[in-house]
Amino acid sequence: MSVQAQAETKLGVLIVLAVVAVLWGGLAQITPLFFQHSTTEPVAGLKPYTPLQLEGRDIYIREGCVGCHSQMIRPFRAETERYGHYSVAGEFVYDRPFLWGSKRTGPDLHRVGGRYSDDWHRAHLINPRDVVPESIMPAYPWLATNDLDGSAIQDKMRTLTLVGHPYTESEIEAAPASLEGKKEIDALIAYLQSLGLQVKQRR
Ligand code: HEC
Repeated sequence: MSVQAQAETKLGVLIVLAVVAVLWGGLAQITPLFFQHSTTEPVAGLKPYTPLQLEGRDIYIREGCVGCHSQMIRPFRAETERYGHYSVAGEFVYDRPFLWGSKRTGPDLHRVGGRYSDDWHRAHLINPRDVVPESIMPAYPWLATNDLDGSAIQDKMRTLTLVGHPYTESEIEAAPASLEGKKEIDALIAYLQSLGLQVKQRR
């Protein structure tokens, strides 16, 4: 009996060999990532989100924007012509959790920062049809009237410092004041306007 036939006819041996093969394959793929600095080094100019942007990001998560919008431009011509430079790993160093998404009912938003004015975003979020008549995006009028709840901002920032976001103690001290009097929509717009600015080579 050949070695192969022996392995294939003995269930225990087959399971052990299959597990070894899968583990080895996994290690071969995963181990190099731990030593690749390009995945953990921020791209030049990347800063952690400001308190306002951080709250906006949480509202983006709460409202489920990621269900219709990706934040991941693939390195294909059709994508880079439309959205700008493809996304690189170092741009997401301060994104916890990632909001890459996988569904594009609407356009990718990774390079939407600076593309429109704050007023455009305000109008668009309150009622997308006011600025894009054929839009099927839902309206989010409550964002304009809801006061921003910044009561957890210091805890959020402190937690992020544990995983390496370089917030200083004085930035954390000053955070609640910078959120005072803001509406939820202000935070969301600040977040959107911060997206994808570091690697920006649009036409
Ligand atoms: C049901 C799907 C859906 C959801 C949920 C959704 N959008 Fe959209 N979004 C769209 C579609 C479709 C468009 C394209 C038409 C338009 O501009 O309104 C769009 C366009 C946009 C644009 C303009 C992008 C560009 O490059 O022109 C922004 C910004 C945006 N959405 C932000 C958001 C935010 C923030 C949320 C969450 C509060 C959200 N969207 C939720 C479908 C959605």
